Parts: sequence; structure tokens; C-alpha cells
Amino acid sequence: MAITYEVIPVEKAEECRALCNELMVFQKSRAWIKAELFDSMNFDTRMVPSIKNAVHNHIVLVKDNDENIGYVYSSISPKWAYSNDFATFFDLSSVEGEHVGSLSQFYIKDGYRKHGIGSKLFQLSMNWLSEFDYVKDRFIFVSNGNDDALEFYKRKGFAVSHQILDGFITVLRNK
Ligand SMILES: CC(C)(COP(=O)(O)OP(=O)(O)OC[C@H]1O[C@@H](n2cnc3c(N)ncnc32)[C@H](O)[C@@H]1OP(=O)(O)O)[C@@H](O)C(=O)NCCC(=O)NCCS
Repeated sequence: MAITYEVIPVEKAEECRALCNELMVFQKSRAWIKAELFDSMNFDTRMVPSIKNAVHNHIVLVKDNDENIGYVYSSISPKWAYSNDFATFFDLSSVEGEHVGSLSQFYIKDGYRKHGIGSKLFQLSMNWLSEFDYVKDRFIFVSNGNDDALEFYKRKGFAVSHQILDGFITVLRNK
């Protein structure tokens, strides 16, 4: 393995297209509540709108030689972006300021997991979010059935806050 980590500008987010689409397929494969909702989720419907709604974006792409093998996408967004036709992701009044941080998308290809790459990406995401000291609230949204990810985030210090959409998503936050 020749693993490299590269922060890429949003103009190059397209490089994450295949990985993002794989993440949706993975999440559908694990889900037992409303799994069909993933059918309409892909790079164009998830990552592109998230980037547009955010005020700051951060993407770290992981490569093994020239092959893209993982990424983490984090953002700082206005809290209103989390209340829409699909769901209200959290009680907006529970958020101190106008903006929230989130680790929005996270995926390592099968075969590269459990080598510490996810922990490194998680730390890079948290370091970047920490740069925005006016943003006190951080969220991670985990779809049902993905208990491995849920436990991973808990071990990294996040706590389960609540569930939305009849358990389709578990909301984790930093406090
Ligand atoms: C969740 C995910 C990003 C974590 O990435 P990862 O690279 O597997 O994470 P790490 O290797 O840093 O840590 C995973 C575990 O492997 C262990 N590990 C790390 N290096 C290791 C090594 N060299 N040998 C054995 N185990 C190791 C870690 O201790 C950790 O154990 P823990 O979960 O019990 O704490 C990854 O599993 C993934 O992409 N999963 C599929 C998509 C997904 O679920 N995304 C999240 C959506 S919310």
C-alpha cells in the first residue's frame, strides 16, 4: 500500500463521485428501515447539494498509488440547511449559534478498513472543524444498520442524541 491523503478543493469534488455512490450502496445494504430511500441518493443528490448549502467545505481524498480508496467530507453549514422537506435533523433551537459543523460523508473501500485510515481521516475532519471556533455544535448522521460506524464514532467521543425518520437515521453530536 502507498497511502496518501490529499485535501482537494470543492471544484474537484467530482473525484469523489464513485466513492460517494459506493457509500450509498453500502448504507442500503446495511439498512433494514426504509432502505429504499437510498435508491435516490447518490453523488448528485447528496454531495453536490451539501456543498452548495455549506459556507465552508473540506474534502480529504485517500489514494493508494493512483486509485481513490476513501474520503471524508466535512462542512460548516447554516443550521436551517438541516430542516427541509426530507427531515428536520435536530432541534434547531438546541444549537447555540447560526452554524453547525458536520462530518457528512465518510467512506473507505472494503479491504482498506481497519488499518487506521478512518481514524486518521476522522482526526483530519475534527481538526478542520476546530478551526471554526464560533461553531460549537457538531453532528454526524448514521443510517440504520450501520452499527460498526455508530460504535466507531462513539469511541471517538460522539454521543447518540436521537433518531429521526422512524429510526432511519441516528443523530450523533459532540455534546
Ligand atoms: C467507518 C469507517 C470509515 C472506519 O474506517 P477504518 O479505516 O476502518 O477505521 P480505523 O481502521 O481507523 O478503525 C477501525 C477499527 O480498526 C482498528 N484498527 C486500526 N488499525 C488497525 C490495525 N492495524 N490492525 C487491526 N485493527 C486496527 C481500530 O482500532 C478500530 O477499532 P474500533 O472500531 O474497535 O475502535 C470504515 O469502516 C468505512 O468506510 N466503513 C464503510 C462506510 C461507512 O460505514 N461509513 C460511515 C458512514 S456514517
